[in-house]
Order: sequence, then structure tokens, then C-alpha cells
Amino acid sequence: MEATLDARPDRRNALTGVPTRPAPGAERRSSARRTPFPAVSWSLPGEGSASITAAPGAPTLALPGPFPPLSAEPPVALLAGWRRYRDLELAGAGGMGRVYHARDGRSGAEVAVKFLLDARDPEERLREARLQSRVSDPGVLSVVDRGELGRYGWFAMPYVAGCTLKSARRGLELAEANELMVAVCRTVAAIHRTGIVHCDLNPRNVLVGAGPSGPHHPWVIDFGIAQEISAPRPWGAQRVVGTPSYMAPEQAMGKNHLLDPRTDIYGLGATLYELASGQRPFAAETSEAILTKAIHEDPRPLSELGAEVPPGLERIVLTCLEKDSEDRYGSADELADELELLVAGN
Ligand SMILES: Nc1ncnc2c1ncn2[C@@H]1O[C@H](COP(=O)(O)OP(=O)(O)OP(=O)(O)O)[C@@H](O)[C@H]1O
Ligand SMILES: [Mg+2]
Repeated sequence: MEATLDARPDRRNALTGVPTRPAPGAERRSSARRTPFPAVSWSLPGEGSASITAAPGAPTLALPGPFPPLSAEPPVALLAGWRRYRDLELAGAGGMGRVYHARDGRSGAEVAVKFLLDARDPEERLREARLQSRVSDPGVLSVVDRGELGRYGWFAMPYVAGCTLKSARRGLELAEANELMVAVCRTVAAIHRTGIVHCDLNPRNVLVGAGPSGPHHPWVIDFGIAQEISAPRPWGAQRVVGTPSYMAPEQAMGKNHLLDPRTDIYGLGATLYELASGQRPFAAETSEAILTKAIHEDPRPLSELGAEVPPGLERIVLTCLEKDSEDRYGSADELADELELLVAGN
């Protein structure tokens, strides 16, 4: 793999410092066949966020963790007795947290409070809030409050009376969805400029509702597994973390030192793929099979799925989903520019 990469012109993006993709018209090859990824098999829980640890070099990964997880939910009595936020109603539940729609006990303002389920030390408990609060962009919700309740870290952000992009898709024309994705890409570019890689971009981690840009304003949420670009990774090379259908090959293989803005380009591409076709790039019964396909196989062309997709979109999506991150767009802004041209009909 190194020899192939070294042979490429080293064109780097000024902001992210990562190499840009080959010039338009450059030969496209099937990276699935060319890239010598190791054969691996996986053992993962369902299709939500997954977190597993592998023995070094082992072909089969086992369910992880030196510690048992905290209890699944913050106890009802704990929440009921909380004075800071009241009238908590579950708004969303994921692999890492519970999000409640709540009312500020003093001002009465509506907020979303996210409780982090699986964090064990104080730094880890507040990590997500720390990273999210660093991003200043209309597409990222501000962190308005944070703290700890019992053993649980929590943070509050404005409540979005809307739905996830996954749900919003049904009411959107493809062109509208692509336009919305231009804004999402711009926000992801801002996240990268802040020095953060999100690592979990997918249609459930984008909220859509009335906001600064209109009735379909997108917000990128869930910085639960986000990484600081210049900091050491919080977990080692053998831990695979993410949502399988949207994980770039380097993430699927646990090569965490390779996670960079182009890993998010892959997640954006998988999201675009799903918005265009209603399907994910790699369909399989188990997370293990999805990850294996993501590492070894080319995605099914959108045109073969019966979706009426402009050829330009197919090209954009496949560039995002390249196995080798150097073949993807070099920045989320570059992807946004391409999508913008497509939406404008050029
Ligand atoms: N600010 C908000 N306003 C309204 N609803 C929200 C807000 N933030 C999150 N939610 C809801 O909570 C759900 C879960 O949020 P989030 O993705 O942050 O949690 P998670 O536990 O990390 O999820 P997962 O592991 O499934 O990715 C979202 O899909 C959404 O439905
Ligand atoms: Mg989520």
C-alpha cells in the first residue's frame, strides 16, 4: 500500500494538511481489489454504535472492556429528584447516551440534556461536551450547561423540535437532500478546522428542524467518539468504535492512528448514498459482515439499486467511499463545492 501511495503527487489541502484526491480525469481503479487489507472477521453487537477490542493481530475480535458498563439508564429516582432540569422526557437513546427533553428549573427554557452512560473518569465524562463546545458553527449546537449527577456526566444544549436526517429524508426531494448535505459538509469542514474528527457521521447523527437557514436547518450532533486530530487517540489501535454501515475501512480495521478528516468524508459519502437510494453502501445481516464488506468490497453502484441518481452524484459518492483515504476528497469543503455544483445543475 505504501508504494502505491508514495507514487501519487503529494497535493495537500491548505486547511487540513491532508493530501487532496487525484486530479479530475485521473484513472479510477477499484481500490477494493488493489488495497491489501488483512482478512479479518468481527464480533460486534447490533447495528448501533459498536465498541470492541481485538487481541493484537487476532483475526477474530471479542467483545471488550476491562470494566462492565454503567447501568443502562440514569435511575428514574435520580432524575425525578433533580432540581436543575425538570420534566425530563426521553427524546433519544443510543449506544453512548440518553437524551432527555427537559425544562430549565430556573429559566423554564427548553433544552436537550444528554447523559453519558459509559464514561468512568471525570475527564471521560465531560469529553463529549468539551469537544462539542469547541466548535463554533451554526450547524453545531452550543453546550449551554454541563455537570455531573451521581456517576453520570451530562450536558445541556438547545432542544431541536425536529427529527433526524434519516427520518427527514422521506419528505425531501433528492435535490433538497443534497442541498442540505452541502450545509452538513460545511459544518463538518468547520469541525475539522477546529481540530476535531467526528468519526460517527450518519443520518441519525444529523438533526433537521427550523433554524438559522430555514425550516430544514441541519445540526451535526453526537460527538461521543470524536477525536482530536493532534492529540493521542483515547483508545488503542485494537479498538474498533463506530456505527458499522458508515465506518471507513481504516476505522473498521481499528487503525485509529489513521483517523483523520477523510474518515469523515467516508461517513458523509455513506450518508449521501443512503439519502439517494434508501440503502446503505454495504448490506449484510451482521455488523461483522458489514465491516468485512466495507474493507474488501466495492459498494454497489447507485444506478444498480433502481435509484434515479444523476451520474455526477454517483461519482461524488464513490469518491467519498474510496477504500484508500488518499483517493477521497481532501476536505469537506471540497466535497461541499462539488455537491453545490451538482445542486446548481452544472
Ligand atoms: N439537541 C437535541 N434536540 C432534540 N433531540 C436530540 C438532541 N440531541 C439528541 N437528540 C435525540 O437523541 C438521539 C440520540 O442522540 P445522540 O446521537 O447524541 O446519542 P447517542 O447515544 O450517542 O446515540 P448513538 O449511539 O445511537 O449514535 C438523537 O438521534 C435525537 O433523536
Ligand atoms: Mg448518535
